[in-house]
Amino acid sequence: MREPIRGPVLVLTGAGISAESGVPTFRGAQGLWRTYRPEQLATPQAFRRDPVLVWEWYDWRRGLIGACAPNRAHQALAEMEAALPGFTLVTQNVDGLHQAAGSRDVLQLHGSIWDLRCPACRYETTNRQTPLPEIPPRCPECGETLRPGVVWFGEPLPAGVLQAAWEAAKNCSLVLVVGTSAVVQPAASLPLVALQNGARLVEVNVAETPLSQYAHEVLRGPAAELLPQWWARM
Ligand code: OAD
Repeated sequence: MREPIRGPVLVLTGAGISAESGVPTFRGAQGLWRTYRPEQLATPQAFRRDPVLVWEWYDWRRGLIGACAPNRAHQALAEMEAALPGFTLVTQNVDGLHQAAGSRDVLQLHGSIWDLRCPACRYETTNRQTPLPEIPPRCPECGETLRPGVVWFGEPLPAGVLQAAWEAAKNCSLVLVVGTSAVVQPAASLPLVALQNGARLVEVNVAETPLSQYAHEVLRGPAAELLPQWWARM
């Protein structure tokens, strides 16, 4: 059953929202984790063991993502932010396509693939160069190897970002979950926290997820098609 939007809205997005922009997802038939092993590429241990290998993989992904444009689902969320008071967008994506579509306030739970930071002296920068001129990139302040500004498996999420996301989950009256397999914690708990606090759950996904059973409304299909349609009806 469809209901008009009343009260604060939380949106949680995952790789599926960028799929139609050409960014590969992680799980599923064409997912990155079918070809690559996360423990060799997306952990602090992997980076310590072989920073060149890890950087080659991130440099390849940066090139791929850099050639992609936001799609109509990203645009619909940017429109919602402009139109709805009390709107919070939380993403697990590191691709920056929400910002490219015009979203201003994006809580990036897993960081950004465009950020580089120094593990030694805390130097940070945003760099959109693809390919990077030097692999691995070096810190201009202290010469240490820079790391991608993303969250790897086994690492804590940025505390302030996570706190803001929890607050939004506790206070929203509608949670819209778009293109995530909802299996990676703590992101996957946000919709459940919202539900426990009485929010209505709408899921947009081409496939069933562990959240589908709790959803008040399921939009089964591609986000770039179904999300703008759903928003247009509101
Ligand atoms: P996944 O790759 O796990 O899930 C993508 C989801 O998008 C799946 O549920 C698909 O069914 C759905 N999907 C695919 N195409 C879609 C489309 N066109 N429209 C709507 N839905 C579509 O990606 P995430 O859930 O984002 O973390 O993964 C969560 C985290 O696991 C990522 O942030 C990353 C990964 O390992 C880290 O690397 C720390």
